[in-house]
Amino acid sequence: MADYRKDHRFADPNEALDYEPYRHDYVLPDWKDTSAKHKKRPPQDLGTDYPTDKEVYFSREVMAREWDKIWSKVWLLVGHLTDVPTPDSYMKVDRGHESVLVVRGKGESVRAMYNVCQHRGARLVDKDFGAAKKFVCPFHSWEFATTGELLRIADRETFREEAICHNLNLPPVRSEVWRGWIFISFNDEIEPLHTWLGKDFIEQMAPYDFEKVLRIRDVQQEWPANWKAAHEAFAEGYHVQATHPQLRGAVDAYHTQVDLFDNGHGISVYQFMSPLPQFAGKLPPGLVEEHKIFLREAGIAEADFPSHWSEVPRAIINAKLARKDYVIDYSKFTEGQLIDDWNFGLFPTTEMFLHPEGFFIQNWLPHPTDPEKCFYQVQVYAVPGIGELPSFMAVENADLSGKHVLNRTYIDTDDLANLGPVISQDRVMVPRVQQGMKSRGFKGAVLGEQEIRIRHFFSQYHRMMSA
Ligand code: FES
Ligand SMILES: [Fe+2]
Repeated sequence: MADYRKDHRFADPNEALDYEPYRHDYVLPDWKDTSAKHKKRPPQDLGTDYPTDKEVYFSREVMAREWDKIWSKVWLLVGHLTDVPTPDSYMKVDRGHESVLVVRGKGESVRAMYNVCQHRGARLVDKDFGAAKKFVCPFHSWEFATTGELLRIADRETFREEAICHNLNLPPVRSEVWRGWIFISFNDEIEPLHTWLGKDFIEQMAPYDFEKVLRIRDVQQEWPANWKAAHEAFAEGYHVQATHPQLRGAVDAYHTQVDLFDNGHGISVYQFMSPLPQFAGKLPPGLVEEHKIFLREAGIAEADFPSHWSEVPRAIINAKLARKDYVIDYSKFTEGQLIDDWNFGLFPTTEMFLHPEGFFIQNWLPHPTDPEKCFYQVQVYAVPGIGELPSFMAVENADLSGKHVLNRTYIDTDDLANLGPVISQDRVMVPRVQQGMKSRGFKGAVLGEQEIRIRHFFSQYHRMMSA
């Protein structure tokens, strides 16, 4: 009989690890002061089966059903009040085959309406962000108020009264504003936003200065992969060791704290400034570049840098807590929130990486016609007045005056330079998965517990798809 050990490349299961093995109920260490303020959700056993039939990544029929059963049913985070800062400023939101105009009203109100002329169906507006007194259709110049009301029909006398006597205003789309964030839904019957997000999930976001932030980066790129395949690479930290080797010294994505919430939402906390445990023993005792960058950003002078990497998280936390008269009140946050990457996942694909200084928000949006393509969107929002921008934002020279609304930049599908070093590595990996999964030689994804958020996503996905 073949010797199991010899024929397999697995590590000896009895071999002692010199680090705490992964558990999906992992809780951030006590010194990070999370246990008191952070209600850890009990772990869920989501089984060991294939999470899905693989056709969900290729099938046009599934794609059409996803639109009806998922994308048309949920709340979608589409932007921030500061993206539409003045009355009658607007943004255009494209999701799948739909296009929506979100217009700022009085105070903190917004209204959303379909971006489609009621004459013959032409798209009304092309710009992503702007301000207008009215919307004029480029085809035959019908005019609509920014409330959606039809104002003018060109050559009105040539229309018989019966043809135009019904409601020809732009149809409304549900919208809600929560702490500055704008959400829309194509589901007129959807539950209120706060119940969709859930109380515990909202509580975890309480300390962040959502109301103050400005968008300083906005990039979109077409990716040759299904939106789910692309998003999955961002719902697990398991790939960091192989795909992002430069982060091995400064991101412990192995000891990730995961919380699974209702409606498919989840939180992953990646421990910044701690090395991946598999590599910690091989690290030289000094600091890697990421440690130095984060120490500097916390306002620590080079002469005061700790000498060993293990002292870096504490040094950064102490420096932030000692900061007085700073634009951010760090005392509101747990120690873990001061340093780690708190990644809030909103079903279906929004991933919000939250730090006290700002937010890195990513979406993988469905393509209107092709299930094997999606649009990657990254938006970075920062708190004005923070000084040097943290490196995780991957932004240089941001305008934080609040005087201008940033435009969206569309980059070529093969442009890696404008994605930044980390995301470009994911961009290369994701299409390999899309291509490989199609093979007759692939049965479906095998998931470890580090990838439990993918299982959790699919439990919500299948629940909605079969409703
Ligand atoms: S389609 Fe808009 S005015 Fe004709
Ligand atoms: Fe990645």
